[in-house]
Amino acid sequence: MSTFKLQPPEKPYYLMVVEPGTTYVWCSCGKSADFPFADNGCKARGCKCTEYTATEAKEVFFCGCGATKDAPHCDGMHKELRVNGLMGPDNRPLKR
Ligand code: FES
Repeated sequence: MSTFKLQPPEKPYYLMVVEPGTTYVWCSCGKSADFPFADNGCKARGCKCTEYTATEAKEVFFCGCGATKDAPHCDGMHKELRVNGLMGPDNRPLKR
């Protein structure tokens, strides 16, 4: 997988370039060592991972805060976390 990040890690979302025909497994618990993608520990943690198969090469915003209603994509819900004081100084939710 040659997906790569396009922006610095202080953003809550992950802007990634995806490849057509590749399936990505997004981690919802936020504890994966390969976040925003799942790792071998996700299943044991009860993570509700979401698969996403790219149909074309493009940039995709993967949610990093876990509040999205459109997993695995960022839908802007992280802004509400910030406005409501639920976003930590590291741009991660205070509670997940
Ligand atoms: S990072 Fe934007 S909704 Fe989660």
